[in-house]
Amino acid sequence: MKRTKLLAVSAVSLVLISTTALAEITFRNVISGEPLDMSVAKSGGNAEAFKQLKETGKNPYNGDKAAIQKGHDLYMPACSGCHGHEAEGKLGPGLADDYWTYPSAAKDQGLFEILFGGANGMMGPQYVNLSTDEMLLIMSWVRDIYKGDPKKAKWLK
Ligand code: HEC
Repeated sequence: MKRTKLLAVSAVSLVLISTTALAEITFRNVISGEPLDMSVAKSGGNAEAFKQLKETGKNPYNGDKAAIQKGHDLYMPACSGCHGHEAEGKLGPGLADDYWTYPSAAKDQGLFEILFGGANGMMGPQYVNLSTDEMLLIMSWVRDIYKGDPKKAKWLK
């Protein structure tokens, strides 16, 4: 390849790489597919963690012991009444096994979309009570207590 052409190709790839890194994920309602209105989000906590979810689709709190503990403390009042104390399922489905009504929940982006935007019936949008940071903390606990097939732990991939 000629030097000029090579330069042009690398310039194009650089632009592509940087726009990919900057592009933020559009979160969508799991039922309607409509973009979620993130302007109603409660801020507070560690804004950097949520920024990382927006950029990578991954929850930076996964595996972080302190975050998981906080997530558990938040899960108890916010979710356990419907999903059970061990997330074994009650009014709402179990969250610790590898069966998902919404397969997108096996990834952090999808799990967040269900928490933030809600799903059907009693699973209302959680942004009313929880900040985006608190949702990420709860999500890290849900991943921590996972008892399903390790191969189906898509959020790790
Ligand atoms: C008032 C009861 C109620 C509360 C509170 C509640 N949920 Fe739910 N949740 C449900 C029900 C019912 C469903 C099933 C909805 C559906 O199938 O669309 C559900 C569905 C879900 C799903 C989808 C599961 C799957 O298999 O795809 C997730 C994830 C979830 N809830 C997480 C949470 C978390 C985390 C909290 C706390 C922040 C929470 N929910 C609070 C009742 C509740």
